Amino acid sequence: TLPRAVRIVEVGPRDGLQNEAQPVPVAVKVELIERLAAAGLTAIEAGSFVSPKWVPQMASSAEVMAAITRCPGVSYPVLVPNLQGLEQALAAGAADIAVFAAASESFSKKNINCTIAESLDRFAPVIDKALAAGLVVRGYVSCVLGCPYEGDIAAEAVADVARRLLDMGCAEISLGDTIGTGTPGKAQALIETVAARVPVERLAAHFHDTYGQALANIFAVMEKGVAAVDSSVAGLGGCPYAKGASGNVATEDVVYMLNGLGITTGIDLDKLVQAGDFICRELGRTTESKFARAKGCA
Ligand code: HMG
Ligand code: MG
Repeated sequence: TLPRAVRIVEVGPRDGLQNEAQPVPVAVKVELIERLAAAGLTAIEAGSFVSPKWVPQMASSAEVMAAITRCPGVSYPVLVPNLQGLEQALAAGAADIAVFAAASESFSKKNINCTIAESLDRFAPVIDKALAAGLVVRGYVSCVLGCPYEGDIAAEAVADVARRLLDMGCAEISLGDTIGTGTPGKAQALIETVAARVPVERLAAHFHDTYGQALANIFAVMEKGVAAVDSSVAGLGGCPYAKGASGNVATEDVVYMLNGLGITTGIDLDKLVQAGDFICRELGRTTESKFARAKGCA
């Protein structure tokens, strides 16, 4: 049975833009975030406090956080890799942060320059301090259905990291199919394995659409009880440390599917399409959303 309601976490302003080579002005990021909130998104990942040498595009996250008009009932989480990032997130007035680990050792090294165990040791004080300050913490696990360097990843390895993040105090664990190699059967098997260690109500699904499997995978994991889905307006994005990774599943397409299933999201699809159209024009890109294209967006 499918969930009655699904919570969408919009990751476009972070996952969508972090890989963008051309500098995106702060004003454009701010307008995108505000348009997404106006469309009814209630969780909008607004940036990340990572090393600007590693991800230059996110260097303006403090400015973005300072400039957005925050809507009541909307959260604006930011990614934080270490205590230095947490300090910046706190200074920026973030109420929600996300730490990010991986189920693949090679990817962990490439993405955050440490082993999985080191990353968890590093996150522990970050999470403690964030919780003490009243923040909500989300934990990501990357490469849950495949790694660009190691290939297949054992579901047990994903479950181990997910459980550790939960025990450390993460409110939600987002399972990232970073390179989009997952297929629905494998995605369901993964959820079964992970849900034996982490309650399914605490899991979110984060699918990149590299192989065109994302919507099918989302439907498959919803059948297993997952009721939180990450997506990116216009299907923007990709991870700079996962070669060939394309954008996240497009939020427009997820909302269209959920509407068709009678699952409520509270999102205004027209306004969402306009938000996607806005950022695509600013970036000089065509949308990756099939729904937006069908509605005449370039
Ligand atoms: P490192 O080089 O090992 O860090 O990088 P370090 O602690 O040795 O510091 C080196 C330098 O970075 C120092 O500066 C620090 O001050 C600075 P220097 O003295 O050389 O001038 N530094 C920082 N600056 C700003 N903010 C900070 C910070 N920390 C250190 N927070 C580090 C380790 C984790 C910092 C680095 O590897 C990094 O920033 N990685 C981020 C990579 C990233 O953002 N990847 C994309 C997000 S993850 C993703 O997309 C996947 C996801 O979508 C889910 C999925 O799809 O699977 C979430
Ligand atoms: Mg991602």
